[in-house]
Amino acid sequence: MRKALLATAAILLAAAPLAACNRQDGASAARSRVKIGGPFNLVDMNGKPVTEQSLLGKPTAIFFGFTYCPEVCPTTLTDLTALLKMLGPDADKLNVVFVSVDPERDTPEQLRTYLSNFDPRIQGFTGTPETVAKAAKAYRVYYQKVPQDGGGYTIDHSSSIYLFDAKGQFVTPIAYQSPPDRALTQLRALLAR
Ligand code: NI
Repeated sequence: MRKALLATAAILLAAAPLAACNRQDGASAARSRVKIGGPFNLVDMNGKPVTEQSLLGKPTAIFFGFTYCPEVCPTTLTDLTALLKMLGPDADKLNVVFVSVDPERDTPEQLRTYLSNFDPRIQGFTGTPETVAKAAKAYRVYYQKVPQDGGGYTIDHSSSIYLFDAKGQFVTPIAYQSPPDRALTQLRALLAR
């Protein structure tokens, strides 16, 4: 019980500065104190190992979700697909990554099939429950399995897209369902860095 309470407190502490990050104003003091991003060991849609090093050299837009997600993930992926189209050829200068928080169901093949519905430049990463948990922790991403009536489960998860520069430094989040013109401005600013 005590352990659970401590874990909850830790999640709340981690989540609080993120909530501040989602405000639409500029850099906040809260953001600078929280390190978002870090080492991870996952696999891509072909089962090939990927780490945080794999993303260096290009700016990155990354978010965490799962292919069975009923709403947030397909909405975000649809928005990203539209944004990449609006960016035109510049979209090739960006890594766009969807990291599964449901490694039990999201095999590389499942990710490949699911992501074929969206812009082909969107990469999918997955792993084991342990390696995914480690990656989510590094990115301050919250996720929690929620059992469903009649068996099965869904997963509550953080919904922001995080933007990183080509050196892997966190820049800013794009909030869920951010207006497209605002998100486009953020992505163009990222590419111009
Ligand atoms: Ni989702």
